[in-house]
Amino acid sequence: MGKKVILDVDTGTDDAIALMLAALSPDLELLGACSVGGNRALSYTTENTLRVLEYINSPATTYRGCEWPMVASLPKWRRPMLPFTSEHEEAKNVHTDYVPMPQATRKVGDKHAVTWLVDTLMASDGDVTIIPVGPQTNIGMALRMEPRIAEKIEQIVFMGGAHAVGNTTPTSEFNIWMDPEAAKIVADSGVKIVAVPVNATHAAYVTMDECDEIEALGTPAAIKAAEMIRQRIRGYMEWQPLDVPFAAPVHDPLAVCAVINPDVLKDVRHVFYDVDFSGGASDGQTIFDVCERYKHEAKNAYVALDADRELFVKMLKEILALEIK
Ligand code: RIB
Ligand code: CA
Repeated sequence: MGKKVILDVDTGTDDAIALMLAALSPDLELLGACSVGGNRALSYTTENTLRVLEYINSPATTYRGCEWPMVASLPKWRRPMLPFTSEHEEAKNVHTDYVPMPQATRKVGDKHAVTWLVDTLMASDGDVTIIPVGPQTNIGMALRMEPRIAEKIEQIVFMGGAHAVGNTTPTSEFNIWMDPEAAKIVADSGVKIVAVPVNATHAAYVTMDECDEIEALGTPAAIKAAEMIRQRIRGYMEWQPLDVPFAAPVHDPLAVCAVINPDVLKDVRHVFYDVDFSGGASDGQTIFDVCERYKHEAKNAYVALDADRELFVKMLKEILALEIK
């Protein structure tokens, strides 16, 4: 059996592909998926997670998690874009309310995602990797509910954060911006952390031509992944065009690929990592101390500032070519 993983997702288009990689890869054992509010409201992200796993015949269960950030949305001035609706630029273009798969017939698991996370981790041998690719609310809540889970998590490999260039504010990336307090709890947890920020995911962009190559694989996962990446490319060209035309970052699958083969991450630094939850102009900023200004602070995270794009696309094609019969 492969490396045990749990995905925490706000299923949108890139989360959907991350889920398919985790479910299809022979190198991973997907123990379950936890939904969280983010790209869309929780009802959508939960339904989308159910749809994806059902569509590819994955046996993994979806557990419904937290709708709202721990505290960030309480003062209205602090998160004016919430509740997150399709009016927001990214939501309108890069994601769709529902992923392009049939409505789910499956139901969510019988526990809240936070309870399931705590129960599963406490019963484990300490060999579980958590892959959060949305706001980290569920993980932060689980760490507050039962701090001892920190000794039971092998590593947290998250998609999120930005070093110098944000995608939601000038200094913050969406997943961290949505729930900075949760991200701070994770940062301080003592668990081994690998951060996959937009610096890496933007380096690992996928092109329209590569969508055609992926679609030509002909499997259900490949055909849907190509459709969703094309959606992302169209959305990014309207919202935040890359320097490369007809291309878009596909953030979340890179975190899954990093667990399968760490070589897909480049320029990985071991740093002191912190999160700004001050509510000020840089609220939600991830601080990766690459210049070691805080010499007295312990280095608590590995951060990838680049990625091997060719290896990433190769891994996408290899895994999306698989099926669960
Ligand atoms: O900033 C990119 C991240 O925010 C991705 O995980 C995307 O799915 C959204 O959650
Ligand atoms: Ca996501």
